[in-house]
Amino acid sequence: MKKNKFGLDMDASLAAYARAKEMQAVEAVGMDCHIGSQLTSLDPFLEALDKVMAFYAKLKDMGLPITYLDLGGGLGIQYDEEAPPHPTEFGQALVSRTKDAGLTLVLEPGRVIVGNAGILVTRVVYTKDTPSKHFVIVDAAMNDLVRPSLYGSYHRLAEVQEKGREVRTVDVVGPICESSDFLARDRELPGVESGELLAAFSAGAYGFTMSSQYNSRPRAAEVLVDKAEAKLIRRRETYEDLVALETDAL
Ligand SMILES: Cc1ncc(COP(=O)(O)O)c(C=O)c1O
Repeated sequence: MKKNKFGLDMDASLAAYARAKEMQAVEAVGMDCHIGSQLTSLDPFLEALDKVMAFYAKLKDMGLPITYLDLGGGLGIQYDEEAPPHPTEFGQALVSRTKDAGLTLVLEPGRVIVGNAGILVTRVVYTKDTPSKHFVIVDAAMNDLVRPSLYGSYHRLAEVQEKGREVRTVDVVGPICESSDFLARDRELPGVESGELLAAFSAGAYGFTMSSQYNSRPRAAEVLVDKAEAKLIRRRETYEDLVALETDAL
């Protein structure tokens, strides 16, 4: 969007291509456009594509040897009740609009590849009832999965072992000293008890990569599950890891 820091608008891009054309050591061979993330409809992509294709016509008129079109990433996944288009549908729509243009298509999918391949498993530390809320305090926190506190994002939560208990409305929060440390607010969840495990779904993208050691919390382990086999692919961090890069210069 215009208010955001990324990219060049169409006018500035045109000027940049014109400048590149004058440069002996630069050959402008492609166009690149990334319009955003977690898009659950094809319309914005196709609208952007139409604009880029009109722009492409101008570049061709300028005699530029454009052969690549990179449409970025952004295809959404299902976190809650969204119904994003399947990548096949996306691909077909792109191909039908670009097939005669002689361009090599490049895409940069991120979340759609791995988002729903990962869960964050967390243990209930204790539960706390106040006059206005029921809290489920878990041992994962905003440092492990920041999307709820950063963007208000929804991540489905479920018991690892379903026990058919009555559902209540709870806030699932972490142990960090921030009111914004939560995984879910006002969420219907079966009455879980301390020691039990919960799974936060759709944590495969922008989950671990956005995690931090805030509050002196070593980051979680990562485990690859392949059918019945589970392999530790990144060990849990230790307190020593938290200070491992510090020098004794002081
Ligand atoms: C330039 C670019 N390409 C690709 C991506 C991946 O996006 P997504 O995970 O939404 O597919 C991003 C994410 O912001 C990006 O900035």
